[in-house]
Amino acid sequence: MIHPFLRLRIKHVYAPSEAADGARILVDRHWPRGMSKTCRGVEAWSKEVAPSDALRLWFRNAPTRWRKFRRRYFAELDAKPSQWRPLLDRARQGAVSLLFEEIDPKRNSAEALRQYLNKIARGEFRLFANGDDTGFLVLDRIHSALDVLFQRHQKALVTHRYAHAQELLDQFKAGLRAHMRHEEHWLLPLYDARQDRKNAPRGFGSEIFALEHKKMLNLLAGLKARMRGLVAGRTRSPREVIELLDEECTFKHLTQHHNAREHSILYPSLDRLVSQEERVKLLARCFAFPSAWSGSRGRK
Ligand SMILES: [Fe+2]
Ligand SMILES: [Fe+2]
Repeated sequence: MIHPFLRLRIKHVYAPSEAADGARILVDRHWPRGMSKTCRGVEAWSKEVAPSDALRLWFRNAPTRWRKFRRRYFAELDAKPSQWRPLLDRARQGAVSLLFEEIDPKRNSAEALRQYLNKIARGEFRLFANGDDTGFLVLDRIHSALDVLFQRHQKALVTHRYAHAQELLDQFKAGLRAHMRHEEHWLLPLYDARQDRKNAPRGFGSEIFALEHKKMLNLLAGLKARMRGLVAGRTRSPREVIELLDEECTFKHLTQHHNAREHSILYPSLDRLVSQEERVKLLARCFAFPSAWSGSRGRK
């Protein structure tokens, strides 16, 4: 199944591992100097996905060769999909950290690979959105992906892994805010402007959806404050965890109702109001998420 999100980040191979890293995969053609091959910080070694030795030696992380390096590396990757396909599949299921040994933290082969995989994922999604009749309901996938993230946060919470629970709640918030912004900037104004007032679903103007967004963000701010208390160790009694879970229940309830209304009212209405060409463009924008959501920067 095509999944719009890739949870890919790059990380230096010697940087300490963290829970948010997910699968730590070395994407260098050579094993790092001085590191034992039984090192527990490297889960797998994707040697063949790395640039050829000739290309690597030509590049030598020279900033002036970066653009040309990417072009040439992308051409190499085009010729060996069997090497990167497993990484793409893996990143659709959970977080993946591409480990590199080069000194430059921004212009290195792992970053080029990350960009290539994101490009492929976006392209596949566009094809999917184009050739599929799901219409705007495809946005339900964003709701589902966010639900999964929230469940993972709750699982970490009840198993007392508070720092990880906080990290997942931060990721959830970044994804939710991005999705809300996309809806408020592009979808709700269209829904309002093109709606035939007489036949519009009563009581479901764009302001209702925007108001619910605001309520959800307010509740989420409360959850984050409680979560900070747990991480700082100020409040760690079982009662505090239960109270947080109770508040999360209220938040989830509101979110589920909101998503159900979008599924039954907003998205089908947009399908009627927007041409297929416009829809494909809008959906491509709605699936472009910031790095905080995909975890592509070395953020904890
Ligand atoms: Fe929404
Ligand atoms: Fe939504």
